[in-house]
Amino acid sequence: HPVSVSTRPVVTVTRRLPAPVESALAERFDVRLNRPDTPLDAAALQEALATSDAVLCTVSDRLGAEVLGVEPLRTRLLANFGVGFEHINLDAARARGIAVTNTPGVLTEDTADLAVALMLMATRRLGEGERELRAARWAGWHPMHHLGRRLSGKTLGIVGMGRIGRAVARRAVHGFGMRLLYASRTELPAGEAAALDAVHVDVDRVFAESDVVSLHVPSSGETRHLVDARRLELMPPHGILINTSRGDVVDEGALVDALQRGVIAGAGLDVYAEEPRVNPGLLALQNVVLLPHLGSATVESRIAMGMRAFENLVAWSEGRELPDRVG
Ligand code: DGY
Repeated sequence: HPVSVSTRPVVTVTRRLPAPVESALAERFDVRLNRPDTPLDAAALQEALATSDAVLCTVSDRLGAEVLGVEPLRTRLLANFGVGFEHINLDAARARGIAVTNTPGVLTEDTADLAVALMLMATRRLGEGERELRAARWAGWHPMHHLGRRLSGKTLGIVGMGRIGRAVARRAVHGFGMRLLYASRTELPAGEAAALDAVHVDVDRVFAESDVVSLHVPSSGETRHLVDARRLELMPPHGILINTSRGDVVDEGALVDALQRGVIAGAGLDVYAEEPRVNPGLLALQNVVLLPHLGSATVESRIAMGMRAFENLVAWSEGRELPDRVG
């Protein structure tokens, strides 16, 4: 007997996803794909919420209280593609009876790799070097050419010791022989702390005593502008700030000022307060590496993220407990 397509849940997918993920979704659900991959505005998101049983959304979708207030509402699940979900108003979702899931674990290693890439780019001034060469300004090898600072053996301070923070810590300690300080709500289990020789301190001490500080906290009211002018002033003048978490964790105006005045030596950023807009003050500086939110941008992670969102959708459609429920 042919399965009646009309009984399958309608799932709107807000952005283009890797082909294996779109195929898996199409086999299982009455799926509405976004072939042109145009970001959905508030009206288009409301249309999706009013006409689909579930929405597979992502960080480019602003699902605030007003959008989630749509009438009539049909959606029961927001299966977010991505680990961060601050773009979804969880209180509003709860009030409307919408469950929310994310995709933890699967992008940890790639995001940690990117944080290390930014550390190397910022300490060794690699972006500047490449720009010099491409602009035909390179005059050849000489001992004083384009000196950066060594990363190996220095002190790394991690703020936020969740999955990604720990993956960065392992790379820094085992790969680069770095000394590790960290600030986190929860301390590492004793065995892991000992294996990494990690010292738990408060946030201020991380800034005061680290050569490189890397941020791995979620965006929230608590973490907004965690890096402000005062904390940047605590850093040594050769200090480097790395951010692969969320842009609003850093007061970008204060960072621009600190980089301009040499309060710290450099920064490596993958995330911004108002993406895709980048603060013009940052764009004007040479001592900051700027990447376009690439932390999880590998074929492997993006397929794994999609399949993780798919698994949450399947669990929901079968009335099972949601593996990655966050709201
Ligand atoms: C994540 O998974 O949080 C990425 O930043 C994309 O949203």
